[in-house]
Amino acid sequence: MSVMAFDRPRVLSGIQPTAGSFHLGNYLGAVRQWVALQESHDAFYMVVDLHAITVPQDPAELRDNTRLAVAQLLAAGLDPDRCTLFVQSHVPEHAQLGWVMNCLTGFGEASRMTQFKDKSAKQGADRATVGLFTYPILQVADILLYQANAVPVGEDQRQHIELTRDLAERFNGRFGETFTIPAPYIVKETAKIYDLQDPTAKMSKSAPSPKGLVNLLDEPKVSAKKIKSAVTDTDTVIRFDEKEKPGVSNLLTIYATLTGTAVPELEHRYEGKGYGALKTDLAEVFVEWVTPFRERTQEYLGDQETLDSILAKGAEKARAVAAETLAKTYERMGLLPAKH
Ligand code: TYM
Repeated sequence: MSVMAFDRPRVLSGIQPTAGSFHLGNYLGAVRQWVALQESHDAFYMVVDLHAITVPQDPAELRDNTRLAVAQLLAAGLDPDRCTLFVQSHVPEHAQLGWVMNCLTGFGEASRMTQFKDKSAKQGADRATVGLFTYPILQVADILLYQANAVPVGEDQRQHIELTRDLAERFNGRFGETFTIPAPYIVKETAKIYDLQDPTAKMSKSAPSPKGLVNLLDEPKVSAKKIKSAVTDTDTVIRFDEKEKPGVSNLLTIYATLTGTAVPELEHRYEGKGYGALKTDLAEVFVEWVTPFRERTQEYLGDQETLDSILAKGAEKARAVAAETLAKTYERMGLLPAKH
């Protein structure tokens, strides 16, 4: 690591390995920003396997999906020489600081987390685990361990970052300046990518139907078909208007981001042409982008030795930072230091 790294502001973020393939919302809302930020920031990115087990996981699948998530992050452009890439469970301090943060969070405060309400409603509140309930608090620990200045995520994570700020301020107020207060880093244009069949709902792996979900590792032909059958509206005008034309606007956002073209330029280009033309072209743009992404993912996955050595180095770098923060936290709270 260069000395410079210490002068740069720090970012941290995480992604769950649960679905196997990342979807377009994960990529445009978060991972794309991670790639850009490794140039200007001291960047820590992780695959959050401890968060994944808040819902039941098949052990063999979880192991495979964790490696697959890492391979996709590398294929998307993360460079282990420019960022610290690791698996959450390789750094035990996450669970340790998680406990401390559990003891700092009010029960009512945790009960207000909307993601828990949504997720537990889906599987039946009685079947939800306590781990799912305290999930945001583990996320707080993830962020505070690294003294992150900013957290690049999609809009759905905003509330968890607000909780992180609240708990950091509470701890600092009670025990003295310990944690950096992190800011959300949410890019407005791509903060929420919508389901192609229901453009009022966010694109999500747990959508009721997979028809509006674009998985990056699916056969490109399958995704092209989904894009061509995206719901638009009964009008024919191609104009960005999230309220009146959510379907068209979502397609324009995806198109603009994947090609680096401004939305007004696209509106101009498609003036007088129908939705069919826009969808056909976007399907082509997507296939062209995703084909090499899939190939690169397979290549990284095929070289397990390299993958595991990247993760070993990442964990070592991450632990150096995390252990220091945890020791300081314990000391501030009055936990008796162990004598070695
Ligand atoms: P996860 O795995 O659900 O999603 C990973 C990232 O993808 C973003 N995202 C979206 N962005 C735009 N539009 C969408 N439709 C869309 N769907 C998902 C998410 O906002 C996220 O940034 N709790 C986190 C993981 C986590 C974490 C952390 C994040 C654990 N610890 C510490 C930041 C910092 C989660 O479940 O993300």
